[in-house]
Amino acid sequence: MTRPARHPSPLPGSLAEVDPEVLATIHGEERRLRETIQLIPSENYPSQAVMEATGSVFTTKYAEGYPKRRYYQGCQWVDAVEELARKRACAVFGAEHANVQPHSGSTANMGAYLTSLTIGDTVMGMDLIAGGHLTHGSPVNFSAKLYRFVNYGVDPSTELIDYDNVRKVAHASRPKMIVVGATAYPRIFDWGIFREIADEVGALLLADIAHISGLIAGGAHPSPVPVADFCTTSTHKALRGPRGGMILCKSEWAERIDKAIMPGIQGGPLEHVIAAKAVMLHEAAQPAFHDYAHAIVSNAKVLAQSLLDEGLTLVTGGTDNHLMIIRLGDSGPTGKEVARAMERAGLVANANTVPGETRGAFQTSGVRVGTPAATTFGFGPDEFRTIGKLIAGIVRDPSNADVVKATAGAVRELCHAVEARREATHAHR
Ligand SMILES: Cc1ncc(COP(=O)(O)O)c(C=O)c1O
Repeated sequence: MTRPARHPSPLPGSLAEVDPEVLATIHGEERRLRETIQLIPSENYPSQAVMEATGSVFTTKYAEGYPKRRYYQGCQWVDAVEELARKRACAVFGAEHANVQPHSGSTANMGAYLTSLTIGDTVMGMDLIAGGHLTHGSPVNFSAKLYRFVNYGVDPSTELIDYDNVRKVAHASRPKMIVVGATAYPRIFDWGIFREIADEVGALLLADIAHISGLIAGGAHPSPVPVADFCTTSTHKALRGPRGGMILCKSEWAERIDKAIMPGIQGGPLEHVIAAKAVMLHEAAQPAFHDYAHAIVSNAKVLAQSLLDEGLTLVTGGTDNHLMIIRLGDSGPTGKEVARAMERAGLVANANTVPGETRGAFQTSGVRVGTPAATTFGFGPDEFRTIGKLIAGIVRDPSNADVVKATAGAVRELCHAVEARREATHAHR
């Protein structure tokens, strides 16, 4: 039996031969990704190069420690690839130090907290209902179990971050750290003001850029790297890498950050994923990625305008980044009902809380949509205008089976047309 040169495993058998059941699920997922529109703002399609590195032989190797300081022998090539990833991360983001080992954005946050906080310390994070992440002090998360989180929120009328309120809460609670970043905030973060407030109360500043690190790498959102003590991120969102995490910090924190991740939290690093992060960072340094990041934002603005033209309401009235939240109102269909109807129509998004939420985090009164994955797929402004109209049709009448069916057909056609256009463009290169 011959094996592809890319998979030099001593064991015989391709996936099709060994486990057709699993292969069928992979083929199902590939079809889903080609025939429906991915509007979850934290998802993306990584490149073939990223996927090849993720599926590489580096999955074989135990490499506890860091390049040139490993507990196990045989680390020559994992050292080389991890060093590439670290150097590229510093170059892309202008950071003094990078740790590329966190298994996820959540673990990256845990690493930054363990590095600089003592159990019980006060930390300030964005209100979860207003868009903060679980690791920013949700009662069901380790963050709130280990630290005393206090919240800042958004202005109820503008739904924008209320910087006066941030300052007031900071002065009243004297946190050891201020965490800035969100899963569902459609506007720009003013890192300078957060730094000023942190300095006024002697707090550290952690910028959680999980959602926007791709925009920052491509110059489509201001960077917190010059002013934040720590920046944490997932690598699989707008940054378009493998599933994983990363921490950027000032050199003074380098040794403590590295120790917090390993041995503090994790054992052996996922070197195949780190290889893929290196590829992702190489891609993020190319001019095409700059264009991609700006296209994410311009497509989001087109989608937002299309939704507004259809009479829908958006949290903060629109977007400056890659996502927007449709506010559905307190009565009528919930976010969950609308997101389910959208899924049946091939428009894959998620229910999301809105500022002042009355229905809880599962049912919600909002739907979050974003453009990173669909922009990678090849959708442009014309398609996003159409997508806005299709979404609005479902939001207005989510239980109407005829509307759902007609929308599903339109979505499939749109996907096929864009895929054909993309392939024709690639063929001409
Ligand atoms: C702001 C923010 N921080 C952290 C995370 C956690 O990332 P992960 O899912 O990789 O643990 C997320 C995930 O959505 C996020 O939105």
